[in-house]
Amino acid sequence: VIVGSTRPTRICPELAGLITERLDGTDELSCATIDLAEINLPFLDEPQKPALGDYQHEHTRAWSDIVRSYDAFVLVFPQYNWGYPAVLKNALDFLYEEWRDKPAALVTYGTRGGVRAGEQMRAVLTGLHMRVVADDVRIKILPDDVVDAGQLRDAAGKIAEYADDITRVGGQLSAHLTATHLTSTAGG
Ligand SMILES: Cc1cc2nc3c(=O)[nH]c(=O)nc-3n(C[C@H](O)[C@H](O)[C@H](O)COP(=O)(O)O)c2cc1C
Repeated sequence: VIVGSTRPTRICPELAGLITERLDGTDELSCATIDLAEINLPFLDEPQKPALGDYQHEHTRAWSDIVRSYDAFVLVFPQYNWGYPAVLKNALDFLYEEWRDKPAALVTYGTRGGVRAGEQMRAVLTGLHMRVVADDVRIKILPDDVVDAGQLRDAAGKIAEYADDITRVGGQLSAHLTATHLTSTAGG
């Protein structure tokens, strides 16, 4: 479960943490949270195209190892000015083969659920040859839901509202993973 925003007052880690807890152990999924603020990548600074996998920088190799170690991803991110956060696109752009064929689910949020950010991200992940599940989770953050610098009044309550949607995409991820396993077994 990737935490897709890095602002100092962001709400993403709280949401992503609750989503990780909810998905972990359901549908045979075993989940962990990856915080892009901790990964702390610079703007893409590799001299070669990532598709070549010829990484010069230690931070790229470390990020590659992390992404390789997971079979599927849930991207949790807000809508920023009708798009997705640049930090998430940068983290995706750093690598290429590491993402290929892996199932992905999108959890977006914003006043209207972050629909526009989700649509754009679907196109990006299709370009990376990821297998994006059929449904997104679109969390509507309403003015009454936030206090102070936009912090959630009740993050657990908000996530509970979307329990069915989260369970549904968890099932879809799991089905993709099972299909991948069957294909690779069939292929020997
Ligand atoms: C740069 C920026 C642009 C934003 N643009 C949108 C937007 O287009 N649509 C929307 O619903 N909310 C927008 N918001 C509000 C965010 O949904 C809200 O601030 C949310 O908490 C951001 O996620 P984060 O706290 O994890 O960074 C924007 C917020 C920021 C900081």
